[in-house]
Amino acid sequence: MAFDSATSDFTDRHLLGIEGLSPIEITALLDTAERYVGQNRQANKKSELLQGRTVINLFFEDSTRTRTSFELAGKRLGADVINMSVANSSIKKGETLIDTAMTLNAMHPDILVVRHGEAGGTQLLAEKVHCAVINGGDGSHEHPTQALLDALTIRRRRGKLEGLKIAICGDILHSRVARSNIHLLVTMGARVRVVAPLTLLPSSIGKLGVDVFHDMKEGLTDCDIIMMLRLQNERMNGNFIPSIREYFLFFGLDYDKLSVAKPDALIMHPGPANRGVEIDSVVADDFSRSVIREQVEMGVAVRMACLEILAQNLQEERETL
Ligand code: NCD
Repeated sequence: MAFDSATSDFTDRHLLGIEGLSPIEITALLDTAERYVGQNRQANKKSELLQGRTVINLFFEDSTRTRTSFELAGKRLGADVINMSVANSSIKKGETLIDTAMTLNAMHPDILVVRHGEAGGTQLLAEKVHCAVINGGDGSHEHPTQALLDALTIRRRRGKLEGLKIAICGDILHSRVARSNIHLLVTMGARVRVVAPLTLLPSSIGKLGVDVFHDMKEGLTDCDIIMMLRLQNERMNGNFIPSIREYFLFFGLDYDKLSVAKPDALIMHPGPANRGVEIDSVVADDFSRSVIREQVEMGVAVRMACLEILAQNLQEERETL
């Protein structure tokens, strides 16, 4: 297989989270992803780098962007890609997560991409299998490839991450996207703020190196980047907001609240966006400001980079055995 002879600065077997990664490791993943942006814009998007390798997408939670972009990423690198959705798997017949993992492990996959509803579900699985594991989102814990694709989008638009004022707004409490982004952006030297009602903030937020705001106009003042988050109703047990109407009034991004940010501030959203809840429809569609579609494009490049690097690390590990 024709990997670059130089080993990447990211040498881990798995990609389970951003927490604990160094700026060098994050930069290695982003630089590799950057190479794929051009390839993905050509008519022929395919290479043979992962020919003979098997990637299994194992999704215990619904997904549109993450699952399809991992599938495309694997196929564009020439790997065989299998998609398993739990809706029609043996999990429905009572099989445990570990039994499913061991069954898949026996088929000798090279990379498992796992999305699981429980924080730590992906880590548990990674401990049981012989292949590389990528976390496609575990509960409200981490979603590393989302943070990487967000960082790539920002870096391409602004040329850097360091020093940028970035506001992450909305349901921070239930968001793995927020957690991974906070770890990545703080590590890379950005100045991160979170803007949310008290009920939608984790009690440990103060330890994450961010400034906390409860008012959108205060939080968005002079920001370079605004990341909006969906209300993760599927993870809520109880009422966290008085009503959708009131939430939109105080925390929904509209032109009025946006007016205090830098005039060229970029608007981001990991999707799926709920129009009229956390973001005004016209703002989401304002492509002079919104880079939501670019985030999706960068997602494929980032996932190709992660597959490439983990496959290379696995090959080196196998060769040294
Ligand atoms: C996010 C997720 O699944 O955590 N979506 C995504 O991966 N693009 C955010 C969300 O579901 O709101």
